[in-house]
Amino acid sequence: MTTPELLAALWADYTAITPQAARIHALLAARGERVQNDHVALRTFGAGDIGIDAMARTFEAHGWALRDRYRFDDKKLIARYWQHPDPSLPKVFISELCVAELSGGAQQIIAGLLAQIPAGFAALPWAGRPWQIRIAEYEALLAESEYAAWVGAFGLRVNHFTVAANALATFPDLAALDAFLVEHGFRLNEAGGAIKGSRAEHLEQSSTRAEPIAVDFADGTRAIPSCYYEFAKRYPLPSGELFHGFVPASADKIFESTDVNK
Ligand code: NI
Repeated sequence: MTTPELLAALWADYTAITPQAARIHALLAARGERVQNDHVALRTFGAGDIGIDAMARTFEAHGWALRDRYRFDDKKLIARYWQHPDPSLPKVFISELCVAELSGGAQQIIAGLLAQIPAGFAALPWAGRPWQIRIAEYEALLAESEYAAWVGAFGLRVNHFTVAANALATFPDLAALDAFLVEHGFRLNEAGGAIKGSRAEHLEQSSTRAEPIAVDFADGTRAIPSCYYEFAKRYPLPSGELFHGFVPASADKIFESTDVNK
């Protein structure tokens, strides 16, 4: 698999459950924009064979190199990001849930999911859900961790692509892009304000709200929020070099774009 084929496979997997991203991409293309991605973000459980390290293997084999690590205490997450020597390729941001920090009940549900993973399973970044989950298990996870419920329902896959706003020619800033999206009927994640971060932090981000999609559970089908589409504008550091990292306080709010009741 070539690197463009890898990214195309991830985009196909993502848009299959996130039709709004394909619609927005098409709207931008119709304006004459050539959309470049700032980063692609994946979620998983922090467990032996499917944690960050396992999920990163595919990207490292394609030349991405680890750049930095983060911790989100409130959400019980850790994350790392990778950058590719080709600056036109997206950064890769992978987070994992610190399962051991959850309640006994939630840990028990997740252990039940992990126990179903077949021997020899490869944690490919589009692997999906190698377990069955019941609606009551999803709801019990949701009551404690939105992130746990999302991974329980969708498995190992892309959570969002992020458009590089710096590479857009017809939008002067993120506010203009947000206004365009609202005008076309898309809902933005307003947690912490539509635009997270600031020029002073060298990174501004906004995102749509995840729309519900029908998911097959072990005991029936239920419509639940899938993935969102994100937009990032980066600013230079004092050195003049563009900032390529992430701002934990902003990312913390961005994680809430898949929340159910907002
Ligand atoms: Ni992101």
